[in-house]
Amino acid sequence: DHEFEMEQTLKGKNVLVSAGPTQEALDPVRFLSNHSSGKQGYAIAKAAKALGANVTLVAGPTALEDLKDINMVHVTSAQDMFDAITSRLDNQNYIIMAAAVADYRPEMVADQKIKKSDEEVTFHFVKNPDILAYIGQHKKENQVICGFAMETQNLEENARKKLESKNCDMLIANNLFTRGAGFQTDTNVVTLLRKNETKHLPKCSKEELGYKILETMKEIEMEK
Ligand code: CTP
Ligand code: CA
Repeated sequence: DHEFEMEQTLKGKNVLVSAGPTQEALDPVRFLSNHSSGKQGYAIAKAAKALGANVTLVAGPTALEDLKDINMVHVTSAQDMFDAITSRLDNQNYIIMAAAVADYRPEMVADQKIKKSDEEVTFHFVKNPDILAYIGQHKKENQVICGFAMETQNLEENARKKLESKNCDMLIANNLFTRGAGFQTDTNVVTLLRKNETKHLPKCSKEELGYKILETMKEIEMEK
């Protein structure tokens, strides 16, 4: 385990990580969500703690246990996650958006259970706020921001667009269809993008990737 051999290279740093899916309610018993397990975000938070940082983990609903000595903030919807994160941005040094935030939510949430009276049912969805884009727009000079991108095609092109449009310092991109990558796995196969660099990383554990991300963020911070 890393914890005993690790140098406290992030001592005094405040690190905010988001993890897991969001759930968008349709009615009191149903929601729209995605397959995110939260494992990658939790692994990053754990690594940051082991390196001595003060860690806040804003987590959507997952099956994972709370992490020790970490400021856990549990949220449900994308709007909840937006509020939880934007109200805690001020003192953060590193911000890592590993959460799979739902892009849309039902425009109306029924206050009673929707009954199956009709043969068809139609829902109207509206866009959720883009949390990472907001963080990028309000980025302070000393902050380092890492986004994620899940793609199924044109990985590099799509990911680089996200890096730029959301004003991130780095972005971790993976292809859902790559073996050993994605939602429920303990490993990841990713491409790390920076302003002038694209690195294809070998398959590694989500924990190892956590350390790699934090190490790279520290490098970026020192180059600022
Ligand atoms: N993200 C966010 N808020 C949203 C949607 C996404 O903060 N409402 C963040 C994710 O946490 C991730 C990054 O933006 O770090 C990219 O998410 P992704 O779903 O890959 O990209 P989108 O910008 O949502 O575009 P699309 O889903 O159309 O590819
Ligand atoms: Ca999305």
